Amino acid sequence: MLSAESEALVRATLPAVAGALDEITTRFYATMFRERPELLDGMFNRGNQASGAQRRALAGSIAGFATALLENPGTRPDALLSRIAHKHAAVGVTDDQYTIVHKYLFGAIADVLGAAVTAEVAAAWDEVYWLMAGALISREALLYQDAGVRPGGSWRPWTVVERRTETPDAVSFLLRPADGEPAPRAHAGQYVSVRVRMPDGVHQLRQYTLSSDPGGELRRITVKRATGDGAEPDGEVSTLLHETVGEGDELLLSAPFGDVFLDDPADAVTPVVLVSAGIGCTPMTGILAHLAALGSTRPVLVLHADGSPADHALRAETHALVERLPHARSVFWYERPGPEEPDARTGLMDLGDTEVPDGATVFLCGSLPFMRSVRGQLLAAGVSPRRIRYEVFGPDLWLPGTAA
Ligand SMILES: Cc1cc2nc3c(=O)[nH]c(=O)nc-3n(C[C@H](O)[C@H](O)[C@H](O)COP(=O)(O)OP(=O)(O)OC[C@H]3O[C@@H](n4cnc5c(N)ncnc54)[C@H](O)[C@@H]3O)c2cc1C
Ligand code: HEM
Repeated sequence: MLSAESEALVRATLPAVAGALDEITTRFYATMFRERPELLDGMFNRGNQASGAQRRALAGSIAGFATALLENPGTRPDALLSRIAHKHAAVGVTDDQYTIVHKYLFGAIADVLGAAVTAEVAAAWDEVYWLMAGALISREALLYQDAGVRPGGSWRPWTVVERRTETPDAVSFLLRPADGEPAPRAHAGQYVSVRVRMPDGVHQLRQYTLSSDPGGELRRITVKRATGDGAEPDGEVSTLLHETVGEGDELLLSAPFGDVFLDDPADAVTPVVLVSAGIGCTPMTGILAHLAALGSTRPVLVLHADGSPADHALRAETHALVERLPHARSVFWYERPGPEEPDARTGLMDLGDTEVPDGATVFLCGSLPFMRSVRGQLLAAGVSPRRIRYEVFGPDLWLPGTAA
């Protein structure tokens, strides 16, 4: 909880700080990477730096945390902190690095806001920073402990035992630990970071969801190639994986993390609704495969939207898994339908005549516009917002409280 003096100062300066956060975070990253270039090698995602997405996520999270402290003193914005802590654990953040980030962030705040940052104002925001950092550090310590790894040290080599083309732009890599140790425990729906060396020698991390049952010794990721549209370049890691990684190669993977997962697999009654678009199908096939492996009798509804049946990664596997589950069914939407899926609907996902089972837990994954549209439809259909869990395949720019 903030002290009374700091609360008044943070309240008075929040509009000015929030208004300048874009400039502050731009300056923060520029100075930090200039003076600590090692952080860009093997930790930060330079695609998200270039697009500005990480900067906006950081700014949004600080403003969101400060607002939550003022509006609900004594509580913590759990969803916000949990998402960040899992991402931090997946990229290997350690507690000593919070001092580095503090130094550059507060340097940037002082530079941008100038004389407005009196010693008292700086001390009040310092308190906000360390409350947030403390909450993240303790969550990250627990995540590392649960994963049985030392902080920042969850990397292990895995061998690609099979590479399979799923669609013209999606490939799956089936992986086995190369060090002979058992595969780490994972929950269905979680992701790993993959660490690769780019042609310029810089290491880059990206997250990929485990797209098959995480219960066995083999794990699978399914990677969509990110192609640029002229104005934007092709995605660097997905392109490298598509073009250079094959059977017998090794990949360095983090332990599995992520707070959007099936946390009640033994529950036999609560319905599960899996809603995805495009490559957002990967957490859903992970969850479906796990339910099938457990012989679950839960009601399961799979809803997926894609460009066409040929673009729909893991389509045949989704059908096969639904067949194995006694109370599961699926509905697909395609913008360009094809004869392979005669029962599919045409166009974008429209839940108008789809009955969503009462009391269901809903998992949602796809682009932000897709998730906004579907979440609105689910709320209109009476689904409680509490029951909707969503995964964003990038820095979360759909922060709690801002979801439409
Ligand atoms: C939790 C999580 C789970 C995920 N699971 C999966 C999964 O199962 N399967 C999957 O395929 N992906 C998944 N992703 C996405 C994946 O991590 C990568 O983001 C994706 O593969 C693209 O990475 P890339 O290196 O190819 O692209 P990047 O090089 O990182 O580029 C990403 C985007 O930014 C744009 N960009 C890059 N540079 C610039 C610039 N200078 N200016 C403007 N725009 C720019 C690119 O055009 C591209 O559209 C997941 C992400 C998260 C966070
Ligand atoms: C209080 C301090 C911090 C805050 C508020 C914060 C906030 C965030 C947020 C909001 C994200 C995006 C999460 C998402 O994917 O949705 C993130 C990701 C990340 N953070 Fe932090 N962070 C803090 C400290 C740190 C520290 C100390 C480091 C280590 C140097 C760090 C490194 C990273 C990295 C590498 C990512 C992933 C970046 C990417 O994939 O683009 N963060 N952080």
